[in-house]
Amino acid sequence: MPTPHTQRPLISERALRDCLRRVSSILRERPTVLRGTLAPLVAHILTQRIRFLGVIRNHETPCYILDLKELKKSIADFRSACERHLPSHQIFYAVKTNHHQRILKEVIRAGFGLDVSSKREIEMGVRAGAQKMVFSGPGKTEECLATAMKHRDHVTINMDSFGELKRLGLLTKKLKKRICAGVRVAPRDHDAWNKFGIDMRDLHDFWLAAQIHPGISLEGIQFHISFNKDAAPYQRMITLLSSYLKRTFSKKQLHDIRFIDIGGGFRPYASEGYYPWTTPAGTIVQAAYAESVKRPPFADRYLLLESLPVDEYLAGIAKAVQTHLAPLLSCAIYLEPGRIISNNAMHIALKVVDRKSPRTAILDGGVNAIGWERFSYDYFPVINLTHPGMRERICTLYGSLCLQGEMDLWGYSYYGSKLAEGDILVVPYQGHLTYSLAQNFIHPIPPVYIMK
Ligand SMILES: Cc1ncc(COP(=O)(O)O)c(C=O)c1O
Repeated sequence: MPTPHTQRPLISERALRDCLRRVSSILRERPTVLRGTLAPLVAHILTQRIRFLGVIRNHETPCYILDLKELKKSIADFRSACERHLPSHQIFYAVKTNHHQRILKEVIRAGFGLDVSSKREIEMGVRAGAQKMVFSGPGKTEECLATAMKHRDHVTINMDSFGELKRLGLLTKKLKKRICAGVRVAPRDHDAWNKFGIDMRDLHDFWLAAQIHPGISLEGIQFHISFNKDAAPYQRMITLLSSYLKRTFSKKQLHDIRFIDIGGGFRPYASEGYYPWTTPAGTIVQAAYAESVKRPPFADRYLLLESLPVDEYLAGIAKAVQTHLAPLLSCAIYLEPGRIISNNAMHIALKVVDRKSPRTAILDGGVNAIGWERFSYDYFPVINLTHPGMRERICTLYGSLCLQGEMDLWGYSYYGSKLAEGDILVVPYQGHLTYSLAQNFIHPIPPVYIMK
């Protein structure tokens, strides 16, 4: 019997050989990356410097700055792209990406519904005055379903499994009430997302199974794929779904489909970068250099996250809808944008507390305001509002949490003429999955101030 202290190789000889083969194939591939600079974004923020300082002057840092101008611009750009390309559509803002009540109120005022994923988010939506919500997500509890039933005039449930269909069916029977519903599907080969929804091959069986529940009015089909650099993932899903429906659904069943919900996943355009060591090839290179030099010799300090202007996403989606769905169905297209609406709407303001050396500084906020070690992976320019400048200077900016450096990091550089204690810095475009992931850890979650 091996004791708990027996030493064994981490992987077998055979697995090691296989691993080396894979590593060399990743390195040989040398994927192309998008090079560029985010300096135009910095210049744009600096034109707003007085606005920013006006807000911060009266408040403490660290804080979030909710930028109403940017929020309204993102809402208007998305809405007009949808209006231009999709004749029949409804937009549901994904609350999970940033649940601040002011954001919810602004999207509702613009005519959006909300995409919610829990009892808490339904209640936030009700409080903000939402008229229409789609409720998606795995593992909906009895309590969640009961809350959806309570607000059934405003809620469509996107069901996630056969089990959920049964539970909702029983609940509607018990309450003697009816609710609108959809079902989420995932393609079989999409591993990262197969936690969600049902296998697309089971959709027809699901549709039939729903018919025995008079309290469920099944009217739509949803999918969601995140983080799409262009329209191709939507086009692929629309093509797959259309050909499945054509093969398996009767004319009557096709007629009953009122919406196809294509989820969110739109990336904001030219607003962030990522570090080369986060790519598969970069991870390998970094591991190889870990023992020798601090930073491996990557050709670029950061790479630009690939994305399209919003109009081009919608044009690509509309093309697939026209070609594949429109000949089959007459229904609305639902969209659930999150990040593309919330990303630019919030910034984080911080103060330099300690200039420890020419190459290091400690700021007054920690990444508890972000909820994870985002800036070890993602690059955003850090902009000095007190000593502004368009030159980017090297200096590692740590947060104030008692955590090891990389775990509480804001960046490796700043834009400015210099950096001194007391300087106000801004990290722009931090509205997506930051405020909603933030934690009370060592320091409280910072306050939000509104910039009109
Ligand atoms: C079901 C669903 N819809 C929409 C979104 C919003 O995605 P994004 O912020 O990428 O637009 C999410 C985000 O996780 C989601 O889970």
